Amino acid sequence: MSTLPPPPAARWLPPGTFSGQVALVTGGGTGMGLEISRGLAALGARVIVASRSAEHHAPLLAEAAERGWLVEPRTLYVRLAGDVEKLALELDEHGGSDILVNNAAGNFVCPAERLSARAWRSVLGSVLDGTFYCTRYFGRGMIARGRGQVLNVVATYAWTGMAGVVHSASAKAGVLAMTRTLAVEWARHGLRVNAIAPGPFQSEGAANNLWPEEGRKRRIEERRERAPAEQSSAPSTSSSGSCRLRTRHCICDASQQRSRRGAHLAESRNRGSPRHSRRLVARVTPWRRDESSHATGEKEET
Ligand code: HXC
Repeated sequence: MSTLPPPPAARWLPPGTFSGQVALVTGGGTGMGLEISRGLAALGARVIVASRSAEHHAPLLAEAAERGWLVEPRTLYVRLAGDVEKLALELDEHGGSDILVNNAAGNFVCPAERLSARAWRSVLGSVLDGTFYCTRYFGRGMIARGRGQVLNVVATYAWTGMAGVVHSASAKAGVLAMTRTLAVEWARHGLRVNAIAPGPFQSEGAANNLWPEEGRKRRIEERRERAPAEQSSAPSTSSSGSCRLRTRHCICDASQQRSRRGAHLAESRNRGSPRHSRRLVARVTPWRRDESSHATGEKEET
């Protein structure tokens, strides 16, 4: 077993939190997706890393070999419904996936009046269509098995909007609506659907497309160094047994909430969990209702 320190996303939960579970992470080989994959793998999940480009898998596969993690690569372009369905059917033949993280996205800054129809479709296709296709096809197996969870990566501008990214803000707002809708619609099948809205996360793709200026890049990098665990651990924390009754929630990046007091601050409180949704979940998941261990990272029996 590796003696290397665990990655940031795995520091707040007990080892083995996801043992025996299969997690599929779209865009899971680079940027924040890579940190999510590392966190889940370090906590015992078998991670299917699904990126559009096979070369994106290489760093995670190399680390997995060194640390003894279970990671399998699959090339997947989430915009292609047929490819998503094919992979879902393939996985279903071998027990399917327990956790789906819809992380794959594309984004760039472009004034709306200059955004071409192709550019709009490109971002909507990856973010909104891709999230739906994955949720629909991987979710079908989860429904059949009566368990599973979907975690969607959105952004705080899904609530507030943001100048220069009308395509991404519109797509992320759609994904947020999808999260809320399916959390209720699929609660009766025992599925949970949540979202996270992390703040800016320094990665090559994001830096090139979103904050090419050196000053901004440095500020984001510094910010990430201050709080890497908070930012990248939200997916694993939200997917863990300690939050197993949580559905229709969105965990927002705290600094973004402070800097933009408004709609999403209110949203991140309890409104994301309406009583009827909770009731549905409670009916189909007869576990002890106790989310207090979320803060301490204790593992509950399942
Ligand atoms: C203007 C652009 C552009 C840019 C592409 N286009 N990049 N327009 N500014 N920077 C236009 C092209 O000109 C073209 O339109 C259309 O978009 C499609 O371009 P393609 O390159 O063919 O598209 P595609 O291969 O689908 O590429 C998608 C992509 C790419 C989004 C453009 O960069 C990508 O996949 N990036 C993934 C990495 C990434 O973006 N990560 C950041 C995600 S962060 P025309 O009409 O000219 O043919 C994130 C959350 C941020 O999403 C949260 C912050 C708080």
